Amino acid sequence: MWSQVEAAPKDPILGVSELFHADKDPSKMLLGTGAYRDDNGKPLVLECVRKAEKKLIEDAKNMEYLPTQGDNQYISRSLDLAYGKEIGNAEAIAGIQTLSGTGACRLFAEFIARFKKGAVCYVPDPTWSNHLNIFRDAGVETKAYRYYKADTRGLDFDGLKEDLGNAKEGDVVLLHACAHNPTGVDPSEEQWLEISKLFKDKNLFPFLDSAYQGFASGDCDKDAFALRMFKRDGHAMALAQSFAKNMGLYGHRVGTLSIVCASKEEATVVESQLKVIARAMYSSPPLQGANLVSTILGDEKLNALWLTEVKMMADRIIDMRAKLREALEKSGSTMGWKHVTDQIGMFCYSGLTPEQVDRLKDEHHIYMTRNGRISMAGVTSKTVEKLAQAMHAVTTS
Ligand code: LMR
Repeated sequence: MWSQVEAAPKDPILGVSELFHADKDPSKMLLGTGAYRDDNGKPLVLECVRKAEKKLIEDAKNMEYLPTQGDNQYISRSLDLAYGKEIGNAEAIAGIQTLSGTGACRLFAEFIARFKKGAVCYVPDPTWSNHLNIFRDAGVETKAYRYYKADTRGLDFDGLKEDLGNAKEGDVVLLHACAHNPTGVDPSEEQWLEISKLFKDKNLFPFLDSAYQGFASGDCDKDAFALRMFKRDGHAMALAQSFAKNMGLYGHRVGTLSIVCASKEEATVVESQLKVIARAMYSSPPLQGANLVSTILGDEKLNALWLTEVKMMADRIIDMRAKLREALEKSGSTMGWKHVTDQIGMFCYSGLTPEQVDRLKDEHHIYMTRNGRISMAGVTSKTVEKLAQAMHAVTTS
């Protein structure tokens, strides 16, 4: 029946975990998928989440379907967290609960495929590999804009401005709100302001993917700088939010898509169409993750606890960056490793070549994506030295 179907290639990120699990070496190290680990290398459930779970059990909520758009209270709290005091007229924002950030991106891609026919979505080069799958499957053409400069290991700001300067009026541009995945390189605040002006001049549509609010710097306001700036500057815009990383709710699939509209009436219409798309794909989103987020954001004590916990996770990653750089420099490596601490967020875009990454796997049982991206959240005080030694070994011979 299916003999004509060819096997699909492994996902460049998730496929790394499959290889890792097949490795029998006890000292193997997984630095592929971006998922936080504590300093013992174990997955972490935040205390605020455990407390919210207890509260939900005590409240004995029912398990009815959510409406297609999701839980309205969750949506409103999620938007307050993102837009902060820049939220303005919340009724003019169409908001819908989604299956995490991926679901938000996919819903938005489906929306532009239907209602912005012919529009191209510009994506940074490089970007999270799944962005390309999402727009492809929704039938939206993507074009790359220059973002990362390998020689400086920093932002290719001139390239970015030139490429987006050549985009057509009305084109959509995907921006990572903070902690760019995979490079860990973000524009400075001054550069963001310039980008916003360019978007205004060219009438481009910003679509911000915010997967790390609070998780990048430990400060939810700082990490929301770019998205709030676009809102303050009066852009029509869209935003994908995820609570996978910053609340550690990976498997609960909880996120939000919001589209900033011209009026309450327009937002109502846009939301009705988002619901049509969602209904046909999955009918309504899952309940528990939204309940957890809403409980945490809506409770003063739990919210305060969450803010300390998200900062703790961000700080551990920042500390691991410092330790990795120090260990690499001590290892005798003469290569520059300053970028390890300059970059922010979950990932270190190490500069290792695909062949060097293969050697890390084959000779040292260390697993990461072939673009040289290291999930810093998977590095611990006990493993950082081994990682540095192995990185030194594969970059010198
Ligand atoms: C990652 O980039 O590793 C994460 O966002 C997880 C994923 O789904 O790819």
